[in-house]
Amino acid sequence: MRNLTLAAFAALSLITLGCERKTPAVDPKPPEAKPVDAGVAAAPKQDDVILLGEVGSLTGPEAAFGISTKQGIELALAEANAAGGVKGKKLEVRVYDDQSKPEEAASAAARLITQDHIALLLGEVASSNSLAMAPKAQEAKVPMISPSSTNPAVTEVGDYIFRVCFIDPFQGYVMAKYARQDLKMSKAAILKDVKSAYSMGLADVFEKKFSELGGKVAGIESYSKGETDFRAQLTALKKLKVEGLYVPGYYNDVGLVARQAKELGLKVTMMGGDGWDSEKLFELGGAALDGSVVSNHYSAEDPSPQVQNFITKYKEKYGAVPDSLAALGYDAAMVGIEAMKRSTDLTGPSIRDALAQIRDFPGVAGTISINEKRDAVKPAVVLQIKNNKFNYVATVKP
Ligand code: PHE
Repeated sequence: MRNLTLAAFAALSLITLGCERKTPAVDPKPPEAKPVDAGVAAAPKQDDVILLGEVGSLTGPEAAFGISTKQGIELALAEANAAGGVKGKKLEVRVYDDQSKPEEAASAAARLITQDHIALLLGEVASSNSLAMAPKAQEAKVPMISPSSTNPAVTEVGDYIFRVCFIDPFQGYVMAKYARQDLKMSKAAILKDVKSAYSMGLADVFEKKFSELGGKVAGIESYSKGETDFRAQLTALKKLKVEGLYVPGYYNDVGLVARQAKELGLKVTMMGGDGWDSEKLFELGGAALDGSVVSNHYSAEDPSPQVQNFITKYKEKYGAVPDSLAALGYDAAMVGIEAMKRSTDLTGPSIRDALAQIRDFPGVAGTISINEKRDAVKPAVVLQIKNNKFNYVATVKP
């Protein structure tokens, strides 16, 4: 692990996350509990088409994750098709909404595999949902790529499960180190979601790393996904007189936590991970989020042509600045497409073998090299919130 490198691009006046983003249209809520084809590809399987499957949270508390990811994937497919597709075939994607629920994610994955006969599975964002899907893909030998699930257990399900993002032991370390060394924080507390594999895992990493670096985690409180009143936990934490509060949750919960913490007079620097990344966070938390810091996958302020070209294309198509979900959705699809091009015969095993060989692939959210655990090893960024915007602070290399 190397030191924090303060990059020069913080000073550049570029488009920043959040300043021009419109709320994307939400797909209509499915009338029934079963996953519904939110679908792009309704046509029966044809010989000149390669059908991909996507499972995402298009409705429910994590809807912003699924919508951004879907848009990133669509953009990648449109580009790949315009460039001739794969082995002379056109790419299509069938998308099912899991309503932000693990059990729906599992049944959607099963349906894509057994009924739609997809060549490759893309998804999910939330680690708990990816964990529910992965055994279906593994069992059927259909390669699965999670764009953004960071819990280590996801790819441990088996040799058909890949991801194009870093994992939580790294992300948790990044924030613990930033808190200790840059914010000079000595006492912190944690508020975690017991229903989320992501939140539980990240809380453990932060506690361990922050302590190893000489800090003290003075208290840990928890909640369950779906709760909206965090006052009891925050009141208990207030008594501990900590300087920082690590909240490894999703935007939907974090926005409310920030607001209630402020109302209760809790004077802490709030810290989090990639799960905070949504424009919706600011709608919920507003000014109560000012000064908070998070680790994330990418910054829209990155001046590299790779990132800025992607932002331009995405804005043209969707009228919004892409968040890290959109960037990682795009990257996951592009890596999948590259593997299909390199595969001998487009079967599950041959696409899997090609995925395992991906090295130095130029992704928008960092260069992707798949390691022996089928994870991508790449840098993280530290972002600070000010005036309803994520501002770039630093890049941390693994
Ligand atoms: N990393 C989160 C998880 O594993 C999902 C996420 C990724 C959320 C990126 C926002 C941005 O559950």
